[in-house]
Amino acid sequence: MHQTSPGLPLPPARSIADKLLKELAGRYGTPLYIYDAAVIRRQAARLDGFEVVRYAVKANSNLSILRLMRTLGCQIDVVSAGEIIRALKADFNPVEIVFTADLFDQAALELLAEQPIHVNIGSADMIEQYAAIRPGSSITMRINPGFGHGHDKKVSTGGEESKHGIWHRQLQDTLQRALAAGLKVTGVHIHIGSGSDFDHLSRIRKSLAAAARTIGAGLEIISAGGGLPVPYRPGESDFDIERYTADWQATRTELETELGRTLTLEVEPGRYLVAEAGLLLAEVRAVKTSGRQIYILGDAGFNDLVRPAMYGAYHPISIIGREDEPRSPTLVGGPICESADLFTQGKESVIEPQPLPRAQVGDLLCIHHSGAYGASMSSLYNSRPLAAEVLVDGDSATLIRRRQTWEEMLAPEE
Ligand code: LLP
Repeated sequence: MHQTSPGLPLPPARSIADKLLKELAGRYGTPLYIYDAAVIRRQAARLDGFEVVRYAVKANSNLSILRLMRTLGCQIDVVSAGEIIRALKADFNPVEIVFTADLFDQAALELLAEQPIHVNIGSADMIEQYAAIRPGSSITMRINPGFGHGHDKKVSTGGEESKHGIWHRQLQDTLQRALAAGLKVTGVHIHIGSGSDFDHLSRIRKSLAAAARTIGAGLEIISAGGGLPVPYRPGESDFDIERYTADWQATRTELETELGRTLTLEVEPGRYLVAEAGLLLAEVRAVKTSGRQIYILGDAGFNDLVRPAMYGAYHPISIIGREDEPRSPTLVGGPICESADLFTQGKESVIEPQPLPRAQVGDLLCIHHSGAYGASMSSLYNSRPLAAEVLVDGDSATLIRRRQTWEEMLAPEE
């Protein structure tokens, strides 16, 4: 076993006490998602330079997380009928909900016909379909500015290879089409991808301003979209939120002066609010070596957290109670019957060992920064029921999703 040198990147400190994490694992079993409300509050406070913080439900759609977002003053971005149902269940007022999509399925159209939920269209064909159920309504338009950027090609949502948004050169025609259908266009929105960087996110402002000028009279809302990155890797610095906010406020003021009207400035983050608040707790069930590689295998798999398998995404890992022990490059996997079930992999499935202490069966593994796109992307693959989720808020810890039972897993098939 090769010992690692000092100065190796360390996983982030756990914001929840080890004693509580162990207690929760004992009480609710593993795999277990645990979220820290204090971190969500901290992140929301950082966005207070935007008039509307519109939380993207897809990042973490647990009802208790949505209710917490509501108490923090966030509004909501939804993409499906199911997310509408969740937002309503979490007591959001329909007027606080925006449905952003590139198509309506029948289920979404039915709900949108019943509820005064604002629609942000990403395809021109949505215009007549919406006008038919809500004649005379206001809509906003999601623009594809011709470029995109994200932490992975799979989550870049701009440019001609992305299906998202109304192509920037077609905005004028699409506006005419909306007017002809009797709809008012009150806003413009751009979201170029998830986990982008400062430079790309800055480029949006110019494209958005151009689109705003094209819409001109009647414009009420500009939305910067989401995509704000979080520092997943040890040593990565925080996103410069002050500069980002100041830049957007300047763009808004410039447009307000030009158009002679006040505009509402929105931001639409998912990950920024919840990623760092969550960790996935797994119990070590096997430790072994294969050739030169050391493996720790826990009871969480890619059905619980698919980001490393799907995007080569990095999640720092730690083992409770072994902080002071020597570390070696280690691979961490789960129980799924597929080689992709490895939490330590980069792009193109290249293994990316992390420096970890030698674990023993029964130890608890923490897979950090998994509050966004963790539970919400989980599946039943290998017939593994959905994990439980706990929300810690100061001294209280609440089970916000109980583990799915075998009966619940099988019920739709009986
Ligand atoms: N607004 C729109 C229109 C979006 O499509 C998305 C994300 C967001 C906001 C929020 O993006 P965020 O701030 O969270 O980056 N499963 C991937 C992320 C896919 C995001 C899709 N859309 C992942 O695990 O990284």
